[in-house]
Amino acid sequence: MSTDIDILVIGSGAAGLTAALTLARHARIALVSKAELGAGATPRAQGGIAAVLAAGDSVEQHIADTLDAGAGLCKPDVVRFVVERGPEAIAGLIRLGVPFTRGDGGKDEFAYHLTREGGHSVRRVIHVDDATGRAVQTALEAQARAEPNIRVLEHHMAVDLITSRHLRGGKPGPERCHGAYLFDRRAGRVIALPARAVVLATGGASRVYLYSSNPDGATGDGIAMAWRAGCRVANMEFNQFHPTCLYHPQAKNFLVTEALRGEGARLTLPDGTCFLDRYDRRGELAPRDIVARAIDHEMKRRGLDHVLLDISHRDPDFVLAHFPTIYRRCREYGIDITKEAIPVVPAAHYSCGGVLVDRAGRTDLDGLYCIGEASCTGLHGANRMASNSLLECLVFGQAAGEDIRARLDDLAPPGVPRPWDESRVTDSDEEVVVTHNWAELRRFMWDYVGIVRSDKRLERARHRIDLLRQEIADYYGNFRVTPDLLELRNLLEVADLIVRSAMARRESRGLHYSLDHPQTEPEGKDTILAP
Ligand code: FUM
Repeated sequence: MSTDIDILVIGSGAAGLTAALTLARHARIALVSKAELGAGATPRAQGGIAAVLAAGDSVEQHIADTLDAGAGLCKPDVVRFVVERGPEAIAGLIRLGVPFTRGDGGKDEFAYHLTREGGHSVRRVIHVDDATGRAVQTALEAQARAEPNIRVLEHHMAVDLITSRHLRGGKPGPERCHGAYLFDRRAGRVIALPARAVVLATGGASRVYLYSSNPDGATGDGIAMAWRAGCRVANMEFNQFHPTCLYHPQAKNFLVTEALRGEGARLTLPDGTCFLDRYDRRGELAPRDIVARAIDHEMKRRGLDHVLLDISHRDPDFVLAHFPTIYRRCREYGIDITKEAIPVVPAAHYSCGGVLVDRAGRTDLDGLYCIGEASCTGLHGANRMASNSLLECLVFGQAAGEDIRARLDDLAPPGVPRPWDESRVTDSDEEVVVTHNWAELRRFMWDYVGIVRSDKRLERARHRIDLLRQEIADYYGNFRVTPDLLELRNLLEVADLIVRSAMARRESRGLHYSLDHPQTEPEGKDTILAP
């Protein structure tokens, strides 16, 4: 393949597409996806995008709600930066043709329907029924595919970043990023793709847990690669668990949007008793950490497999019009949400921590940017407020694109990387090592590093990670890479970062709750790990 590109964007959800489109008139881009472009987390986002759009809302109120949900760890300047850019980001999507759901046209009303989710004190979530992410992905993707300067590389998985030490005849000097090694899944080989700058938009790491709302590819690839390349990561202990994923033996990772609660759905025990008011005065609309912990507590205390989410008291026409995706999907499993409650459980949903970046998405490594869920910008703090993340993808996608555009002349042409060396490896003879370790890792992360943690559980997890690390390193060193092996290697790295961060936090805050340290310290501090 010819390698005449300037910028490599790894990841093709809302963040990666936005960065690529911001740059498309100024540079030659390779947009890399490890499966098809739309296989990431963006198309799964049901609820919507939070932005100040209604007359009764304000930037100050959106900021205050975000800071409150973030439990003392949001960076106020970053929150303001993102929130202030919300209305323009939505206007951009409307210009691209995203068919946001219209309001009912009441007097003085904003033209589009706004829903509510946990932590928001007013209606401010603009949406496309209950399939917002899919509509956003479709619009951005169509635009990207039409850009002659964007070359789309599907089915290519990033293995590692190319840094100065990977260059032919490299001289000692400051480290910088020169591209990435990519595994071409169809050809079954690794190629080196040099670039002036690399943007990681690879999404989160919630597949490190046994139960997750995320697509299979959410394996923390960008976080692990940036860490191996020398970048700091922050706040990895704050993994968000979505309170309501469908509980059904055949339903794999199906989310039931929080917007359902925004429109009046109640969470109940199997006998129909509501319970959230006992945990927080905001009841069903308390921030996610509180709702997920309350469900976990009730399930463990009563030995339940699930709780129930009930919207059957609302007019069936309203439910069908606003939640067609959930209605259809639940019907497939024999549940009619207009007549009966939905069995739900919490599942790992969002990584609030990630690669530490500044307001342009710059990481510690020159020439390397990170945006979207893989990054830690300071917007989410200890607990992301619902529907703030697509907004972050749009705002930081554009910020990183603009920063790169302004620096294009200064970003050195890439050096010539050494080719991938396979001279000392053979084909794997025991794939079972990968599948076994994958299952074991996700199981102990769920059991020991889940919604409620303790010193002993974290210690057990760390011990398991140490054992797996040796085994996976041997395997990686001896056999040709496969996508499963690469993902397992990344998941292990991320699991280690989560456990180490959780052990370092000697308090409970936001999404991190420890039985041994239930108190919240007066001053919130980030957990920053350096390689
Ligand atoms: O419940 C939801 O629709 C999820 C929204 C989000 O994670 O932002």
